[in-house]
Amino acid sequence: RQLDEVCLPLFFGWFLLTPAQDQLRSTGSDFLTALDGFKKNAVGQEIPLEQYFKGKRSLHCTTKFCDYGKAEGAKEYAEKPVSELYGSVFDLAVSALFVTPRTFGARVSLTDEQLVLWPADAEKEAESSVPGAGSLPLGSRAHITLGCADGVEPVQTGLDLLEILVLPEVEPVTDLELGSLRFYGEGRWMLELKEPMCAAACFSSFYK
Ligand code: A2P
Repeated sequence: RQLDEVCLPLFFGWFLLTPAQDQLRSTGSDFLTALDGFKKNAVGQEIPLEQYFKGKRSLHCTTKFCDYGKAEGAKEYAEKPVSELYGSVFDLAVSALFVTPRTFGARVSLTDEQLVLWPADAEKEAESSVPGAGSLPLGSRAHITLGCADGVEPVQTGLDLLEILVLPEVEPVTDLELGSLRFYGEGRWMLELKEPMCAAACFSSFYK
């Protein structure tokens, strides 16, 4: 059976295999601990970040949110090359981790081969929420949600990433063991990993 209209999923994306999920969760947790430690000296401590963010579900990098066919462009997206690559395993490069008052996520740097699965309008679609996002390179929004603050929807993670990426580059505030830490104001932090993490992930889809 073809991936047609009646069976379009909630979303397509890369779903991390279990070892990659475990490794990313563990690196994420190390980052939150290190950031808590740094903030304690720099800006005073609030509640531990690990408690602040509610992690959930299996870790994935959404490509196209289809809403069972209701989202614009969902049907067109599910054609080639998506249907041909469905079920294939890819090595995703996790290049950075970020925290905002709303979300905790990992930035994914897509290769040209992976970008063929990236919707052409993913960044433009965010322009109304994040002015300037539409001019960022294709794939800028690619991320893995690691946690959200109470009452925040996971769609916010990609928007928070874009919000950081449209800002002018700043100097790192410190070098942590995992990499250099930058502060973008308004509670926004980004850690560029010294060694990008390779995460094996299966290109597939999710139905609730
Ligand atoms: P993300 O990919 O940032 O984690 P939900 O559980 O809210 O129905 O969302 C299911 C998945 O689809 C989540 O992974 C979520 O965010 C993503 N998502 C939800 N809404 C959108 C949207 N409007 N655009 C892009 N991705 C979305």
